[in-house]
Amino acid sequence: MPNVKFYRNEDLPLEMHKVRIVQKLHLVPIERRLEALKDAGFNTYGLSTNDVFLDMLTDSGTNAMSDNQLAAMMRADDAYAGSQSFARMHQAVEDVLGKKYLLPVHQGRAAENVLVRTFAKAGDIIPMNYHFTTFLAHTLEVGANICEILHDDAFETSSTNPFKGNINVDKLVEFIEKTGVDRIPFIRMEASTNLIGGQPFSIANMMDVRRVADKYGLLLVLDASLLGENAYLVKQREEKWKENSLGDIIKMMTGLADIVYFSARKLSSSRGGGICTNRAELHQKMEVIIPLFEGFLTYGGMSVREIEAIAVGLYETLDETMISQSPNFIKYLVEAAESRGIPMVTPPGVLGAHVNAARFCDHLKPTDYQAAALGAAVYLCGGIRGMERGVMSSVRDENGVEVPSDVELLRLAVPRRVFTLSQVNYIVDRLEWLHDNRKLIGGLKWVYEPRVLRFFLGKMEPTSNWPHRLMEKFRKDFGDSL
Ligand code: F0G
Repeated sequence: MPNVKFYRNEDLPLEMHKVRIVQKLHLVPIERRLEALKDAGFNTYGLSTNDVFLDMLTDSGTNAMSDNQLAAMMRADDAYAGSQSFARMHQAVEDVLGKKYLLPVHQGRAAENVLVRTFAKAGDIIPMNYHFTTFLAHTLEVGANICEILHDDAFETSSTNPFKGNINVDKLVEFIEKTGVDRIPFIRMEASTNLIGGQPFSIANMMDVRRVADKYGLLLVLDASLLGENAYLVKQREEKWKENSLGDIIKMMTGLADIVYFSARKLSSSRGGGICTNRAELHQKMEVIIPLFEGFLTYGGMSVREIEAIAVGLYETLDETMISQSPNFIKYLVEAAESRGIPMVTPPGVLGAHVNAARFCDHLKPTDYQAAALGAAVYLCGGIRGMERGVMSSVRDENGVEVPSDVELLRLAVPRRVFTLSQVNYIVDRLEWLHDNRKLIGGLKWVYEPRVLRFFLGKMEPTSNWPHRLMEKFRKDFGDSL
């Protein structure tokens, strides 16, 4: 964040970019929003952007691209094998992430597929700070499982712990001793732990985990999809790294991992992914799977234009004015919402602002799908599309029973350099109105529940006609306002 002080000492996230291409948005009337919600099966994934005003579903593939990224796309080199575009991405991976072998994949979950297929077998257990939905799904598909080893306070939504994504190292050692190294294919650390509110881990913690990995001869795998923002928060929150550049911090973290993988949809504001390492034998082991699922080794299912955008985007993650924009907008949103009594996850993390749906909807039960219901209500009252991160995004236990999730959150993603500050103020305004009327929000139930990753395609319906009542209250309070 640049050092710009305001005369009145206001703490505003000043934009260090200008807008050169814009896309018109549509805020359709609430009556249309209710219809759209019904058609979407009360699942925000089912909405068309025609009916969405502020799309806060995700930052995945929706971060604003830079002029230099777009310019690079124009010189892409179309070649099935040996493309110069891939050579430029390869160089960027080496320069920014410090790894010399690179396997291209079409997106982050494809990297997870390659990792799990290569290293895990039925009966294995993969320890990690916290799972990501697609990683868990791939692991379960091969008959393996995961074990999450965070500190107890990681699930406290109101907290001052700057690094809720840290692995509990004592428990990790206990887990390894109990499970045995033969059943542990690798340890996984996810930068900016997505599902618990975009919470980072510290470098001190990663160094401790590295020592444990060395002691037991285990691989350490880093999910670097949100690495830039994790590095930014390390610089902000970890005393020892305050004076270092983002480049130093990123290299330090990737240097501690044997394998680094990423969704370029997030990391480099583009679309694609990669797996990289400095160990030839690991690279070789994974390499054989790429032509089977992804494509040839110099494009991996990606368009060469996106490969060029990744190369430039990787270098741009080293620019603090770029990487700080989303976390600083999130901080502004979280603090403004908290000041109006809305329960938010604190400290503010990365990727998005997270509303604590369990508290917002404490008149509902987890089996009413509090976060999914809140997501539907936020869309209804503001045309704002968030993403459920709670029970609906989890899996049932082996007996088919719903298990309350560790945290029940509605995520409002803040993709890089997409929204303006007045749009953020609008979000806070609609959240406050909804919070004042929260008792009108009712539950949801499944109509169609897919076996795998049910939150993507699943359909639900309200347990009463509460959406209609909420709409009536909106009309009463806002008159003919959109
Ligand atoms: N790892 C993390 C930490 C992620 O956040 C994601 C995607 C993936 C892996 C998978 O990458 O989508 O390119 O296949 N997160 C998106 C989100 C979907 O909205 O949080 P992908």
